[in-house]
Amino acid sequence: MKGILLAGGSGSRLYPLTTITSKQLLPVYDKPLICYPLSTLMMLGITDILIISTPKDTPVIEDYLGDGADLGITLSYTVQDEPKGIAEAFVIGDEFIGDDPVTLILGDNIFNFGPQIQSIANTLQSDFDGALIFGYYVTDPQRFGVIEYDESYDVLSLEEKPKQPKSNYAAVGLYAYDNTVVEYAKNLKPSARGELEITDLNLKYLEKTALKALPFKRGIAWLDAGTPHSLLAAANYVEMIERMQGLKLCCPEEVAYRMGYISVNDLKQKIKNIKDCDYTEYLENHVIHQKG
Ligand code: G1P
Repeated sequence: MKGILLAGGSGSRLYPLTTITSKQLLPVYDKPLICYPLSTLMMLGITDILIISTPKDTPVIEDYLGDGADLGITLSYTVQDEPKGIAEAFVIGDEFIGDDPVTLILGDNIFNFGPQIQSIANTLQSDFDGALIFGYYVTDPQRFGVIEYDESYDVLSLEEKPKQPKSNYAAVGLYAYDNTVVEYAKNLKPSARGELEITDLNLKYLEKTALKALPFKRGIAWLDAGTPHSLLAAANYVEMIERMQGLKLCCPEEVAYRMGYISVNDLKQKIKNIKDCDYTEYLENHVIHQKG
């Protein structure tokens, strides 16, 4: 399973913050936003990851994350010249995807799956056909893609920002596809706003009755950080959990170590390369010495 992290877009809803830096490098409490979707892919067992961003932001993100070797993963980078839609990621990522299935995560989505992570990871790593989208129960579904599904989790309908939603399940920014996604994406027509829409792509799978929904259980957190309000809400959420537990959410170095992508010596080396600070203290005391 390959992974794509889509960190494109102009970030206009976060102006003027995004004139200074990419949305995905803005802080969510104690780490850049991109650490959260990156750690999520890593926790799902995905280690070969393509990061797609704008021409301006790609070099900055690459400067921060590098080739992923120090996290025991492989990171590559491609530019999306203009914000032409989420589904364009599969056209741009064609060569990277090759013959594999692929999972896409949006660069401003933050997940805290809790214990459901293992079953989601197992599903993604299994030999699956078709497409899988994830539903999150919300009170304001008209703001999202809305999923209606039956008791076998087959999707019955999927509508983008409907005025009269058929359910309370929003489609979150995490999508998994078999390899036909590349062909479907290449044949999509741009929408009225000139974008290749992820919902149109999912509807191709729905036409073939090959679209499944996996609803998240109660208590799971899903936040997007694309507006000043939601960016602050995400930071407050992370700060509260981290302060209560003294354990970090989505710390890539910790995830790499706990997932077995790097050894204790690799982690020690990584710590040596960072100046002493609270972050290194955390990695030393709570990760290496397994406190907490
Ligand atoms: C996009 C998708 C929508 C999905 C949402 C999740 O919307 O089109 O189906 O529910 O991401 O964040 P956008 O945020 O681009 O309006």
